Amino acid sequence: SGVITIDPGFKNTGSTKSAITFLDGEKGILRYRGYPIEQLADKSTFLEVAYLLIYGELPQKSEFETFKSQVTNHTLVHEDIKKLLDGFPSTAHPMGVLSSLVTSLTAFYPQSLDPNRSWEEVNLSIIRILAKMPTFAAWSYKNQMGHPVVYPDNKLDYCGNFLKMMFGLPTEEYEVDPVVSRALDKLLILHADHEQNCSASTVRIVGSSQASLYASISAGINALWGPLHGGANTAVIEMLEGIKADGGDTKKWMAKAKDKNDPFRLMGFGHRVYKNFDPRARIIKKAADDVLEKLGVNDPVLDIAKGLEQEALEDQYFVDRKLYPNVDFYSGIIYRALGIPAEMFTVMFALGRLPGWIAQWKEMRENKEPIGRPRQVYVGENERDYVDLAKR
Ligand code: CMC
Repeated sequence: SGVITIDPGFKNTGSTKSAITFLDGEKGILRYRGYPIEQLADKSTFLEVAYLLIYGELPQKSEFETFKSQVTNHTLVHEDIKKLLDGFPSTAHPMGVLSSLVTSLTAFYPQSLDPNRSWEEVNLSIIRILAKMPTFAAWSYKNQMGHPVVYPDNKLDYCGNFLKMMFGLPTEEYEVDPVVSRALDKLLILHADHEQNCSASTVRIVGSSQASLYASISAGINALWGPLHGGANTAVIEMLEGIKADGGDTKKWMAKAKDKNDPFRLMGFGHRVYKNFDPRARIIKKAADDVLEKLGVNDPVLDIAKGLEQEALEDQYFVDRKLYPNVDFYSGIIYRALGIPAEMFTVMFALGRLPGWIAQWKEMRENKEPIGRPRQVYVGENERDYVDLAKR
């Protein structure tokens, strides 16, 4: 039926209409529900941004209080989830642990599998996953460290609670550093949504089969894992460390990135949509300077990163291909200053992206979008007869 056009990587194919995030790659504009990312990063909080993305408007005071208390009340996870966690070796990558624990919610809340649930029940799934994700994220780290888990502390706010579960010990008091907590909140805001990227499209396509919210989000986490997507933040720090160990020779690494016979790419550079600059990278670069100064951290890889950026901005190869630093170029440097290890960077990205995934899933369901099912152009063998194994 009709001619099928193939568009590998969907470079020019829209998959949906959406009212969540506006992005203009030529002008470097990013807005959530109409609000510029610069204003949200400066003035809002992550939980408020989550509300905005999911429900479409900034909350009234009382709406926000209700939302916050709902999220706070659901932070605890079923005790049996600890058994699942215990089953993972400490070598387990935290992203794999995170996606598994999110999938396991389908077992603890089987009613979430019913596609005909009421809106109230769907909303409860939304609250649950928002509330439990920091617990899962922190526990995936505790598993890697071989340390006992720390239970959520509902006296703390979203980021403070996460930091305590991440860095606290069950036997000790933990005091949240407001500089660390605010920096984390800002990073989560910057990652909260980015329209139809690889993981958001995954969430929508999985959800389009009427799979549960938990199953769809878990698929999104796995899509985010790869180094070309959310895994880039870990890859950036590894690259910067590699350059440092190599005597800081940025020119040599630039040459490697430009060499078409070398698979190496300058990690944290380039974007499918941003062709002028990534507005998130601008905010993050400034935040990196602020946070490192406030915490009194002197990280030599920050200088390497700045040098590399400067060289790339002046290099014909990068200029011709419109390759600029993306959100992940400086985020790892901040995470590291906050004490978060490189293996956890992509988990942090997932924590930030969660409201976006939820909003994308909810919009897809509310719009009653059809099941995602791309077509293909077949280029394989023509019909041929089966040959017995003995005669082949
Ligand atoms: N270093 C060197 N060359 C690059 C890079 C890079 N980082 N990125 C793209 N190129 C070149 C690429 O080789 C190609 O060159 P040519 O036209 O000569 O073949 C040209 O630029 C276009 O690249 P593309 O791969 O066709 O572009 P894309 O839109 O398919 O890929 C990208 C976008 C982000 C996957 C890619 O730029 C990349 O691999 N960047 C490094 C990984 C990274 O930082 N990812 C994080 C993206 S932002 C956060 C997120 O989405 O999670």
